Amino acid sequence: MKHSNFLLYLIISLFFSCSQDTIQQKEIGIIPKPLFQELDKGVFIMDEKVLLVSDPKLSEVSDYFKIYLEENYQIEFNAQKGIKKIIFTINDTIPNEEEYELKIEEENIFIESKNARGAFYAVQSLIQLLPLPSDLNSFKIPCLRIKDQPQFTYRGMHLDVGRHFFSVDFIKKYIDLMAKLKMNTFHWHLTEDQGWRIEIKKYPKLQEIAAYRKETLIGHYNDQPHQFDGKPYGGFYTQEQIKEVVAYAKTRQVTIIPEIEMPGHSQAAIAAYPELGCTGEQVEVATKWGVFDEVYCPKESTFKFLEDVIDEVVSLFPGKYIHIGGDEAPKTNWKNCEYCQKLIRKEGLEDEHGLQSYFITRMEKYINSKGKQIIGWDEILEGGLAPNATVMSWRGTKGAVQAAKEGHDVILTPGSHCYFDHYQSENENEPLAIGGFLPLEKVYHFNPIPEGLTDKEAKHVLGAQGNVWTEYMQTEKQVEYMAFPRAIALSEVLWSSPKHKNYSDFIHRLEQYQKRLDQLEVNYANHIYSVKGELINSKGNLAYQLSTTSSSYPIYYSTDKSFPSKLYSTPITVDTSMHIKAVVLDSKETPLGAVFQQKINLHKGVGATIAIDKEPHPAYNAGGKNALINGISGNNKRYGDKEWLGFSGEDIIVTIEFDNPKNIKTISTRFYNGKGQWIYAPNEIGFSFYLEDGKTVNDITILEEKNNLLVNYSYELKSTAVKKLDIIVKNYGTIPEGKQGAGHKAWTFIDEIIIE
Ligand code: ACM
Ligand code: ZN
Repeated sequence: MKHSNFLLYLIISLFFSCSQDTIQQKEIGIIPKPLFQELDKGVFIMDEKVLLVSDPKLSEVSDYFKIYLEENYQIEFNAQKGIKKIIFTINDTIPNEEEYELKIEEENIFIESKNARGAFYAVQSLIQLLPLPSDLNSFKIPCLRIKDQPQFTYRGMHLDVGRHFFSVDFIKKYIDLMAKLKMNTFHWHLTEDQGWRIEIKKYPKLQEIAAYRKETLIGHYNDQPHQFDGKPYGGFYTQEQIKEVVAYAKTRQVTIIPEIEMPGHSQAAIAAYPELGCTGEQVEVATKWGVFDEVYCPKESTFKFLEDVIDEVVSLFPGKYIHIGGDEAPKTNWKNCEYCQKLIRKEGLEDEHGLQSYFITRMEKYINSKGKQIIGWDEILEGGLAPNATVMSWRGTKGAVQAAKEGHDVILTPGSHCYFDHYQSENENEPLAIGGFLPLEKVYHFNPIPEGLTDKEAKHVLGAQGNVWTEYMQTEKQVEYMAFPRAIALSEVLWSSPKHKNYSDFIHRLEQYQKRLDQLEVNYANHIYSVKGELINSKGNLAYQLSTTSSSYPIYYSTDKSFPSKLYSTPITVDTSMHIKAVVLDSKETPLGAVFQQKINLHKGVGATIAIDKEPHPAYNAGGKNALINGISGNNKRYGDKEWLGFSGEDIIVTIEFDNPKNIKTISTRFYNGKGQWIYAPNEIGFSFYLEDGKTVNDITILEEKNNLLVNYSYELKSTAVKKLDIIVKNYGTIPEGKQGAGHKAWTFIDEIIIE
């Protein structure tokens, strides 16, 4: 450590007094958890004048800390010299830029790092050791030593400002919240079908036309028929505002990656300049969600437009990467476009996927010539990956595995673990979201290194990112609700050692962290005190187990619809159909979370043996096959819970076998029919019943296609002693033209099979 070149840079005197006290290890609640921390005896008490001393190269960080203290603790600085110091030092022996050492002694606090990045993270840890500004009667910091560094270099959060537009102040708040979690990359999704949000001076119609839509879809895309609010909506960031945000992010050690989508998700730009599309027809800025056929036509004039846009973008964003999108670009217009077809032949391309690859590779070359690298969504693998591209894997992790094996860097954002636009609780009253189910715990247990990579290939995994698509987030408050606390769990996935992974320890620290979020007026989702339930089948004896994420407060329950008043200790015996209610109450019997409710229908299938000839898709198999006969129906609005099972493009045969033959009158179930998400109810269901007398009865029902989100199905049979039955569920097949996901196989989602 070099002490020689200290500049006496800032002099801060802090006037606080408090009693000396010891602090327990459990009270050190830093998120993300540091790599190494050791508590020492004693505390650093801010009751005397404290000097802030910094190497000039770290003055930006010590300034940041000074301002933080001033703003949050109303400290009156005094230039008098004190006896305690907070010392920021450059230590060249520290190997990594984001690494830091923080040592708190009774008389001094030492922060050492290679550069400002590490120092900034040391300050973030230190801030979390300070009392809450509302709790100032104990301004003491435990003596300890921390040595810390991240697991991954790319620790990102994304925000879609195309579907809904958010203020510059909010963007700064979002960046600030990320930075506190030691996240270092903000992926700013700036262009969409529903709005172009970045000022491009050379193309004024992007501001006049592409930035505004005439109205917006009301409710969920799956609600039919579509209804609109009739209100114009839009906005864009001026280049001055973007510079301001970029400069702000720099003070938080956050790099911004701008995303300019191509060739798809470009309808807004094509609305402004119809000649950018294949047909040249005038289209409007999209007013609903989804994937649109309007994509850029790869004409020379289109490339000129995109290169001009990139020129202005490059001048605004100093980071290494430009994200060029590449996802969800339907090939319909290219198939029907004479120019595109000629180009495919001229370039010797295989097909339209080859054309997409040509498009991206050509733009990559241009962007590389500006000294920047491209990132694209995993569709850029189709038809061949551009030579230097980094792949952002969102459709699972397959894209990441393939790209890493081809020697490309990858960033993991799989829908299963990183889509923070999905629901986060099973509570039916959650605010409207796109669908899916991604609870906090699942994010916490994410491993960004996908299976199937060698150690060498795994080095291409730069990290991961939480994606916040805003179709269903109209307000900044709603963005906060969806992003937090899941971004907090992700920060720990990306920064902390997997060796320290411990969800209950994380939750304990999160309870403290949430108090800081309260102070910052963040509308995070608080599901720590929500009750969860699970039916347990122990050798045919059924019981319902309740739990909460935090064990700080007890659960109360009822089984008769009354307000929960019985203290829960052991699983509730389920020997009849029942309606369980449960809630977490504090010592004053005030509910800390919403009342949980679960109906259990003890039908004849519950406790039987079930087999399915195909595995459900791993992302939609939370409850396993027994979820179909556990007496519990899935959520009415969401297929991603632990009751629905999802199958991708396959017919399935469900076999249910009884210990003793059962007289069965009806078999009913239901299918999810969310066509916007490529999920279709089947058109055909077959049955085979294996009777006690050795006979087999077969039947097939053809179902009419419906547009309801939930399709109920019920089959009646003459009450017969059935030993075993097969239900054959045919997949819908290929999604027709003109529908979301056209050309792909539909998904099948099936709920509880109720046997009566
Ligand atoms: C995406 O979610 N379309 C990348
Ligand atoms: Zn074309």
